[in-house]
Amino acid sequence: MDKLVIRGGKKICGSVAASGSKNSALPVIAATLLTADGSFAISRIPDLKDVRTFIQLLDYLGAETSFEGNLLTVSTAHLKSIEAPYELVKKMRASIYVLGPLLARFGHTRVSLPGGCAFGPRPVDLHIMAMEKLGATVTIENGFIDARINGSRLRGARIDFPVSSVGATGNALMAAVTAEGTTVLGNAALEPEIECLCHFLVKMGARIDGIGTTTLTIEGVDQLRAVGFENIFDRIEAGTLLSAAAITGGTVTVTGVVPEQLASVLEAFRQSGCSVTVSGDSVTLSTPTELLPVDITARPYPEFPTDMQAQWMALMTQAHGDSTIIDRIYLERFNHIPELNRLGAHIEIRDNWALVHGPQELTGTKVMSTDLRASACLVLAGLVAKDTTEVLRVYHLDRGYEAIEKKLTALGADIERQKYQEF
Ligand code: UD1
Repeated sequence: MDKLVIRGGKKICGSVAASGSKNSALPVIAATLLTADGSFAISRIPDLKDVRTFIQLLDYLGAETSFEGNLLTVSTAHLKSIEAPYELVKKMRASIYVLGPLLARFGHTRVSLPGGCAFGPRPVDLHIMAMEKLGATVTIENGFIDARINGSRLRGARIDFPVSSVGATGNALMAAVTAEGTTVLGNAALEPEIECLCHFLVKMGARIDGIGTTTLTIEGVDQLRAVGFENIFDRIEAGTLLSAAAITGGTVTVTGVVPEQLASVLEAFRQSGCSVTVSGDSVTLSTPTELLPVDITARPYPEFPTDMQAQWMALMTQAHGDSTIIDRIYLERFNHIPELNRLGAHIEIRDNWALVHGPQELTGTKVMSTDLRASACLVLAGLVAKDTTEVLRVYHLDRGYEAIEKKLTALGADIERQKYQEF
């Protein structure tokens, strides 16, 4: 296995380009399953493990793919399977994104049920509800979601989501774009990754109104076409890189971003005393002599993202005062706390919130990654910790960050990837 060995205490300074977004790349790649027409060329696809796993899933289904230099070309003209097997789905929950497009195109699909998740239950009931509303019959058999169309096409319907879900909104959109008639998605997720998926589908020929709002109206079309498309930037990676500068007392410019999509995170940095300047498509952050504590609550976009909560907690260990962190999306997403405390942080868990006592001097040791963003949080802590921090099981980090240690090294970090054996 790989680990990251970090000798802390170096300031993160310089300029770095944001990679393409993982969380928009995955549904966009899934949407290529909707049409047998020609070949898609999608640029700014980040080269990371989850994307590779998704491409592997497409290959398994019979797609022709090539992925080089962040450009993915895909043709799904000659698929040979409509089933997403457990072996691939268990590696990545986002595999559920094939449910909508395969059902819409072939009238039948089988997708293995994703398993649990390190930070609590992550059900797929809303994905299933959306397919049923569109007229599918869904059964759960032998660990698979089996979805079938009664008739030749899905039928447009009104779908009101009881909670805002990025995944279920994406799946419902992909299923609805070729359904017969009109579909209205109420309480749809607003995340920029959903907006990106909408723009991709519209370029393919879909008719979607209300993009960027919580009500999406979709007029089903008969046919979609293969297109070229550029993916959006990864706002979570950008926020993580800004946090790396903030936690080490550095100054960093992240280029290739849409600053408005980072608004809640930039506001939190400003409240912590950082200076944040926006110029065109770049953001520059420089740090004050003393970071101030800032309470955050993770909620659906445009509020503070759950995927930045763990990184924010690492930063708050260095703030001068106490702060609270609440996650309203995943109430128990706190696996990083015991590991941060092993590095010398003083964080208490109270029911569903965390109390971070700052500032605490962190000192390096071996820590274990438990999920993607928790490992990013440990890397940030390692950057400021005295001595050497070893972040083990770094495969979690590799799922969602493109060349992270190369980017951090270029910004002045002392960080190295090494192989190790787990006993
Ligand atoms: C996506 C992101 C993930 C992010 C999350 C934030 C991808 C690949 N993943 O995950 O990085 O942390 O959004 O919202 O884009 N829920 C249900 N039933 C369902 C689906 C979701 O109850 O069928 C609940 C979840 O338990 C959670 C909430 O809805 O409480 C939001 O989850 P959702 O937005 O669906 O998360 P994902 O799409 O899995």
